[in-house]
Amino acid sequence: MNQIDWKNESAGHFEKHAEERLQDVYPWLLRDFIEFTGWQIAGRKILEIGCGPGFMLQQFAAGSPALLTGVDASFSMLHRVAAVARAPKAFLVQADACSLPFAEASFDAVFSRGSVFFWADLPAAFAGISRCLKPGGQALIGGGYGISTPQAIIDGVRKAKVGGKCGVPRLDPGQLAEIAARTGGQAKIFQAAGRGFWVHWKL
Ligand SMILES: C[S@@+](CC[C@H](N)C(=O)[O-])C[C@H]1O[C@@H](n2cnc3c(N)ncnc32)[C@H](O)[C@@H]1O
Repeated sequence: MNQIDWKNESAGHFEKHAEERLQDVYPWLLRDFIEFTGWQIAGRKILEIGCGPGFMLQQFAAGSPALLTGVDASFSMLHRVAAVARAPKAFLVQADACSLPFAEASFDAVFSRGSVFFWADLPAAFAGISRCLKPGGQALIGGGYGISTPQAIIDGVRKAKVGGKCGVPRLDPGQLAEIAARTGGQAKIFQAAGRGFWVHWKL
């Protein structure tokens, strides 16, 4: 894994940061997901990669998905999802995004926020995502604070001091979109200064 070892201490720092600063952002990330995919959550099989302490799993769970699975490389992060029952019905799987342990066509959609920066083998990760999505499946992969999030919320997060050792490596979204398109289907980038980006990938 690149740069950060998401063991207990970093996991704790991130959870605190998410709890204190990002809580208001997550509902808007869900809204981005619904707007980009054009899908409601109900009845869908959803995989979140790099789910961390589970704040987005909590958002997805409220929409009654048919199946909700959270993958993270860090046991400490997954432990945090379970410890406070943020998404009690979600399956939690400890695995690397670069070797996803799921059967072909297991999910309708893949969501990932703030994790792709740390995936050591992007082509392998995208090949795995493509394999475990159903034909016509969609993925929303990116980082930052979302496209539909009100500016006042983003300003609040950006002003706040981020606790912990969270130096996020840089990544070119164009490179991700190319890898996605080379893997199959169509990929588009959405980004805005100070907000972050999404790669929306349709298979
Ligand atoms: C910045 S946190 C984001 C957590 C969550 N997505 C959120 O937005 O609240 C990044 C997460 O990606 C996970 N991660 C990093 N590299 C990974 C990999 N190769 N495979 C799976 N998860 C990974 C980390 O353990 C961490 O939980």
